[in-house]
Amino acid sequence: MLGIIGAMDSEVQELKNEMPDAKITSVAGMDFYEGHIHDKDVVVVKCGIGKVNAAICTQILADRYKVDSVINTGVAGSLNSDIDICDIVISNDAIEHDMDVTALGYERGVIPDMDNSVFHSDSRLIDVLEEENIMRRLATSIEEANLSVKIFTGRVVSGDQFIAGKEKRDDLVNTFAGDCAEMEGASIAHAAYVNNIPCLIIRAISDKADGSAEMDYPTFEKKAAANSIKILKQLIKNL
Ligand code: ADE
Repeated sequence: MLGIIGAMDSEVQELKNEMPDAKITSVAGMDFYEGHIHDKDVVVVKCGIGKVNAAICTQILADRYKVDSVINTGVAGSLNSDIDICDIVISNDAIEHDMDVTALGYERGVIPDMDNSVFHSDSRLIDVLEEENIMRRLATSIEEANLSVKIFTGRVVSGDQFIAGKEKRDDLVNTFAGDCAEMEGASIAHAAYVNNIPCLIIRAISDKADGSAEMDYPTFEKKAAANSIKILKQLIKNL
Protein backbone atom coordinates (compact mmCIF):
# COMPACT_ATOMS: atom_id res chain seq x y z
CA MET A 1 0.00 0.00 0.00
CA LEU A 2 1.33 3.39 -1.05
CA GLY A 3 0.50 6.41 1.13
CA ILE A 4 0.04 9.74 -0.65
CA ILE A 5 -0.12 12.93 1.40
CA GLY A 6 -0.96 16.48 0.35
CA ALA A 7 -1.51 19.36 2.74
CA MET A 8 -4.35 21.04 0.86
CA ASP A 9 -7.31 20.11 -1.35
CA SER A 10 -5.55 21.54 -4.41
CA GLU A 11 -2.73 19.06 -3.81
CA VAL A 12 -4.83 15.84 -3.62
CA GLN A 13 -8.35 16.44 -4.99
CA GLU A 14 -7.49 15.33 -8.51
CA LEU A 15 -6.18 12.02 -7.14
CA LYS A 16 -9.31 11.48 -5.06
CA ASN A 17 -11.42 12.14 -8.17
CA GLU A 18 -9.75 9.10 -9.77
CA MET A 19 -10.90 6.91 -6.88
CA PRO A 20 -14.72 7.06 -7.04
CA ASP A 21 -15.05 3.78 -5.10
CA ALA A 22 -12.57 4.70 -2.39
CA LYS A 23 -13.24 3.58 1.16
CA ILE A 24 -13.10 6.72 3.27
CA THR A 25 -12.09 6.54 6.93
CA SER A 26 -11.81 9.60 9.15
CA VAL A 27 -9.03 9.61 11.76
CA ALA A 28 -7.74 12.62 13.72
CA GLY A 29 -9.87 14.89 11.55
CA MET A 30 -8.29 13.60 8.33
CA ASP A 31 -10.16 11.63 5.62
CA PHE A 32 -8.14 8.67 4.34
CA TYR A 33 -9.21 7.56 0.82
CA GLU A 34 -8.30 3.92 0.28
CA GLY A 35 -8.47 2.60 -3.26
CA HIS A 36 -6.54 2.16 -6.51
CA ILE A 37 -4.70 4.37 -8.96
CA HIS A 38 -3.19 2.68 -12.04
CA ASP A 39 -4.11 -0.66 -10.38
CA LYS A 40 -1.85 0.08 -7.38
CA ASP A 41 -3.18 -0.01 -3.81
CA VAL A 42 -3.07 3.56 -2.53
CA VAL A 43 -4.36 5.63 0.37
CA VAL A 44 -4.68 9.34 -0.37
CA VAL A 45 -5.09 11.91 2.39
CA LYS A 46 -5.16 15.66 2.94
CA CYS A 47 -3.17 16.20 6.15
CA GLY A 48 -3.68 19.94 6.65
CA ILE A 49 -0.94 22.53 6.79
CA GLY A 50 2.26 22.35 8.80
CA LYS A 51 4.73 19.89 10.26
CA VAL A 52 2.61 18.57 13.12
CA ASN A 53 -0.41 17.73 10.93
CA ALA A 54 1.89 16.08 8.43
CA ALA A 55 3.67 13.97 11.04
CA ILE A 56 0.40 12.84 12.66
CA CYS A 57 -0.87 11.84 9.25
CA THR A 58 2.26 9.86 8.39
CA GLN A 59 2.08 7.96 11.67
CA ILE A 60 -1.54 7.01 10.96
CA LEU A 61 -0.48 5.74 7.52
CA ALA A 62 2.19 3.65 9.21
CA ASP A 63 0.03 2.28 12.03
CA ARG A 64 -3.35 1.75 10.37
CA TYR A 65 -2.52 1.26 6.72
CA LYS A 66 0.92 -0.34 7.07
CA VAL A 67 2.04 1.62 4.02
CA ASP A 68 5.22 0.40 2.36
CA SER A 69 6.08 3.85 0.94
CA VAL A 70 4.97 7.43 1.49
CA ILE A 71 4.92 10.13 -1.16
CA ASN A 72 4.23 13.78 -0.44
CA THR A 73 2.87 15.83 -3.33
CA GLY A 74 2.31 19.58 -3.34
CA VAL A 75 3.64 23.05 -3.97
CA ALA A 76 6.67 24.93 -2.65
CA GLY A 77 8.56 28.21 -2.85
CA SER A 78 11.74 28.08 -4.94
CA LEU A 79 15.05 28.84 -3.20
CA ASN A 80 17.13 28.26 -6.32
CA SER A 81 17.27 30.82 -9.13
CA ASP A 82 17.46 28.00 -11.71
CA ILE A 83 14.13 26.57 -10.50
CA ASP A 84 11.23 28.57 -11.85
CA ILE A 85 7.50 28.75 -11.13
CA CYS A 86 5.71 25.48 -12.10
CA ASP A 87 9.01 23.55 -12.27
CA ILE A 88 9.28 20.34 -10.23
CA VAL A 89 11.60 19.47 -7.33
CA ILE A 90 12.03 15.77 -6.48
CA SER A 91 13.58 15.48 -3.02
CA ASN A 92 17.07 14.11 -2.56
CA ASP A 93 16.72 14.89 1.12
CA ALA A 94 14.74 17.08 3.51
CA ILE A 95 15.53 19.16 6.62
CA GLU A 96 13.35 20.85 9.25
CA HIS A 97 14.67 24.40 8.88
CA ASP A 98 12.93 25.77 11.96
CA MET A 99 14.56 23.25 14.32
CA ASP A 100 16.91 25.55 16.27
CA VAL A 101 18.75 24.43 19.41
CA THR A 102 21.77 26.62 18.70
CA ALA A 103 21.58 28.04 22.24
CA LEU A 104 22.75 24.62 23.45
CA GLY A 105 25.50 24.30 20.88
CA TYR A 106 23.72 22.38 18.13
CA GLU A 107 23.80 23.48 14.52
CA ARG A 108 20.58 24.82 13.06
CA GLY A 109 18.38 22.05 11.71
CA VAL A 110 19.95 19.44 14.00
CA ILE A 111 17.46 17.54 16.17
CA PRO A 112 19.15 16.80 19.52
CA ASP A 113 19.36 13.13 20.53
CA MET A 114 18.41 11.85 17.10
CA ASP A 115 20.86 9.90 14.98
CA ASN A 116 19.76 11.82 11.90
CA SER A 117 18.35 15.22 10.99
CA VAL A 118 18.74 15.10 7.21
CA PHE A 119 16.09 12.76 5.88
CA HIS A 120 17.16 11.11 2.64
CA SER A 121 14.65 10.08 0.06
CA ASP A 122 14.29 6.48 -0.93
CA SER A 123 16.76 5.84 -3.73
CA ARG A 124 14.48 3.22 -5.32
CA LEU A 125 11.69 5.77 -5.74
CA ILE A 126 14.11 8.28 -7.26
CA ASP A 127 15.50 5.49 -9.47
CA VAL A 128 12.04 4.62 -10.71
CA LEU A 129 11.70 8.19 -11.87
CA GLU A 130 15.18 8.34 -13.38
CA GLU A 131 15.64 4.84 -14.75
CA GLU A 132 12.32 4.79 -16.47
CA ASN A 133 13.28 8.12 -17.91
CA ILE A 134 10.01 9.49 -16.65
CA MET A 135 11.55 12.82 -15.78
CA ARG A 136 12.80 13.41 -19.30
CA ARG A 137 9.75 11.96 -20.97
CA LEU A 138 7.43 14.02 -18.83
CA ALA A 139 9.48 17.15 -19.27
CA THR A 140 9.20 16.61 -23.00
CA SER A 141 5.48 16.05 -22.94
CA ILE A 142 4.87 19.02 -20.68
CA GLU A 143 7.03 21.14 -22.95
CA GLU A 144 4.91 19.98 -25.84
CA ALA A 145 1.94 21.39 -23.96
CA ASN A 146 3.84 24.69 -23.93
CA LEU A 147 4.46 24.74 -20.21
CA SER A 148 8.21 24.16 -20.51
CA VAL A 149 8.42 22.69 -17.04
CA LYS A 150 11.83 21.52 -15.83
CA ILE A 151 12.37 18.74 -13.31
CA PHE A 152 15.11 18.94 -10.65
CA THR A 153 16.26 16.75 -7.81
CA GLY A 154 17.24 18.71 -4.72
CA ARG A 155 16.87 19.57 -1.07
CA VAL A 156 13.49 20.34 0.47
CA VAL A 157 13.51 22.49 3.61
CA SER A 158 10.37 22.55 5.74
CA GLY A 159 9.16 24.75 8.58
CA ASP A 160 5.98 26.15 10.05
CA GLN A 161 6.45 29.39 8.13
CA PHE A 162 5.36 30.68 4.74
CA ILE A 163 8.58 32.14 3.31
CA ALA A 164 7.88 35.46 1.60
CA GLY A 165 10.93 37.70 2.03
CA LYS A 166 14.45 37.98 0.69
CA GLU A 167 16.14 37.91 4.10
CA LYS A 168 14.58 34.60 5.21
CA ARG A 169 14.93 33.13 1.74
CA ASP A 170 18.66 33.97 1.66
CA ASP A 171 19.03 32.53 5.16
CA LEU A 172 17.55 29.18 4.05
CA VAL A 173 19.82 29.12 1.01
CA ASN A 174 22.96 30.03 2.97
CA THR A 175 22.29 27.86 6.03
CA PHE A 176 20.76 24.76 4.46
CA ALA A 177 21.43 25.00 0.71
CA GLY A 178 17.72 24.37 0.22
CA ASP A 179 16.24 24.18 -3.27
CA CYS A 180 12.65 24.73 -2.20
CA ALA A 181 10.75 25.63 0.97
CA GLU A 182 7.44 24.26 2.13
CA MET A 183 5.71 23.31 5.38
CA GLU A 184 5.34 19.51 5.57
CA GLY A 185 7.84 17.45 3.55
CA ALA A 186 10.65 17.07 6.09
CA SER A 187 8.27 16.11 8.89
CA ILE A 188 6.71 13.44 6.65
CA ALA A 189 10.22 12.21 5.82
CA HIS A 190 11.10 12.32 9.54
CA ALA A 191 8.03 10.29 10.56
CA ALA A 192 8.66 7.85 7.70
CA TYR A 193 12.31 7.50 8.78
CA VAL A 194 11.50 6.52 12.37
CA ASN A 195 9.03 3.96 11.03
CA ASN A 196 11.49 2.60 8.44
CA ILE A 197 9.23 3.54 5.55
CA PRO A 198 10.68 4.74 2.23
CA CYS A 199 9.65 8.30 1.42
CA LEU A 200 9.77 10.76 -1.47
CA ILE A 201 8.67 14.38 -1.78
CA ILE A 202 7.46 15.79 -5.10
CA ARG A 203 6.88 19.54 -5.11
CA ALA A 204 6.00 21.98 -7.88
CA ILE A 205 6.99 25.61 -7.52
CA SER A 206 4.18 28.08 -6.87
CA ASP A 207 6.35 31.10 -5.95
CA LYS A 208 9.91 32.21 -5.30
CA ALA A 209 9.66 32.54 -1.51
CA ASP A 210 10.60 36.24 -1.76
CA GLY A 211 8.71 39.53 -1.83
CA SER A 212 6.72 38.35 -4.85
CA ALA A 213 5.44 35.20 -3.10
CA GLU A 214 2.26 36.79 -1.72
CA MET A 215 1.17 37.68 -5.26
CA ASP A 216 2.50 34.60 -7.07
CA TYR A 217 1.25 31.93 -4.67
CA PRO A 218 -2.50 32.44 -5.26
CA THR A 219 -1.88 32.83 -9.00
CA PHE A 220 0.15 29.65 -9.50
CA GLU A 221 -0.91 27.33 -6.65
CA LYS A 222 -3.40 25.27 -8.64
CA LYS A 223 -1.31 25.01 -11.79
CA ALA A 224 1.77 23.99 -9.80
CA ALA A 225 -0.18 21.46 -7.70
CA ALA A 226 -1.48 19.88 -10.92
CA ASN A 227 2.08 19.52 -12.25
CA SER A 228 3.15 17.72 -9.08
CA ILE A 229 0.23 15.28 -9.42
CA LYS A 230 1.17 14.68 -13.07
CA ILE A 231 4.66 13.49 -12.06
CA LEU A 232 3.25 11.46 -9.18
CA LYS A 233 0.82 9.61 -11.43
CA GLN A 234 3.65 8.65 -13.78
CA LEU A 235 5.62 7.38 -10.81
CA ILE A 236 2.70 5.26 -9.58
CA LYS A 237 2.28 3.80 -13.07
CA ASN A 238 5.91 2.70 -13.09
CA LEU A 239 6.15 1.35 -9.55
N1 ADE B 1 4.45 26.51 -0.10
C1 ADE B 1 4.40 27.15 -1.29
N2 ADE B 1 5.15 28.27 -1.26
C2 ADE B 1 5.69 28.35 -0.02
C3 ADE B 1 6.53 29.27 0.63
N3 ADE B 1 6.96 30.36 0.00
N4 ADE B 1 6.88 29.04 1.91
C4 ADE B 1 6.41 27.93 2.56
N5 ADE B 1 5.60 27.03 1.99
C5 ADE B 1 5.24 27.23 0.71
